[in-house]
Amino acid sequence: MDLGLTNLRALVTAASRGLGAATARQLSLEGASVAICSRDQAHILATAEALKAEASRPVLGLAGDVSDPRSAEALVEQAAIALGGLDILVTNAGGPPSGPFEALDFAAWEKAFHLNLLSTVSLIRAALPTLRQSRHAAILTITSYSAKQPIPNLVLSNSLRAAVIGLTKTLANELGPSGIRINSIMPGWTRTERVEELMAARARQKGTDVETEIAAQVAAIPLQRMASPEEFAQVAAFLCSPAASYIHGAMIPVDGGAILASL
Ligand SMILES: NC(=O)c1ccc[n+]([C@@H]2O[C@H](COP(=O)([O-])OP(=O)(O)OC[C@H]3O[C@@H](n4cnc5c(N)ncnc54)[C@H](OP(=O)(O)O)[C@@H]3O)[C@@H](O)[C@H]2O)c1
Repeated sequence: MDLGLTNLRALVTAASRGLGAATARQLSLEGASVAICSRDQAHILATAEALKAEASRPVLGLAGDVSDPRSAEALVEQAAIALGGLDILVTNAGGPPSGPFEALDFAAWEKAFHLNLLSTVSLIRAALPTLRQSRHAAILTITSYSAKQPIPNLVLSNSLRAAVIGLTKTLANELGPSGIRINSIMPGWTRTERVEELMAARARQKGTDVETEIAAQVAAIPLQRMASPEEFAQVAAFLCSPAASYIHGAMIPVDGGAILASL
């Protein structure tokens, strides 16, 4: 199936590794021209080089911090100038720290608010004028299945993902008449470096090891395994593509059945 992504222009944020990098790779393999960003310049340039070599498509690496609104605006501007416009925006950011409610101070809440909610607002605000000029404009927010089913010890993520979903659904109503599609993926457990770090934190807390904690988590997933970043990225590329032209305002779990609720 041709997704129709050839020569479309995409910005994927927070993409030097993990879900963002896998999404950028998939878009690139499908023929899109891609800009990616992360805070660490050497790392993002190395990832861009690797993707460029694999897909033989232009991949632009940009250093920037999406939790800083001025940096987010600059990233969108640089990407749009370099790619000659934008058709696709994937709003990703790093995850907030783990911890129970009483262990997290106000500063931690404020930081997570900037990282996971305000970054999405800044990126979309900055990209909208350019996206309005595209015939295939699509926005994808990356949230978490934790918005539907809270994950123990992750109160910051559980709370802020729900806010991003509220934003996504509201924008579906506001942007739909302009033909700009917006959707969200709520990933379940996907084996990235962040998940390795979260499992290492659990292991330290309980005096176990990472593999024991991964096995315990996997036991609660109906498919009995974590996803690979590629499994996430294939859905992300589809949702951003003209092949998904009537999917709008959808919150799609890619979670191996981890959300146990019926609706
Ligand atoms: N993996 C999962 O199972 C899963 C499930 C549900 C939700 N999520 C969420 O999905 C997002 C991506 O997850 P992941 O597992 O791919 O995380 P990851 O492996 O930690 O990768 C995070 C990426 O984001 C970049 N980044 C972090 N903070 C940034 C910032 N302020 N500005 C720009 N780039 C930034 C990092 O590079 P630099 O450090 O160089 O900036 C890195 O490239 C996270 O928000 C995570 O919480 C993940």
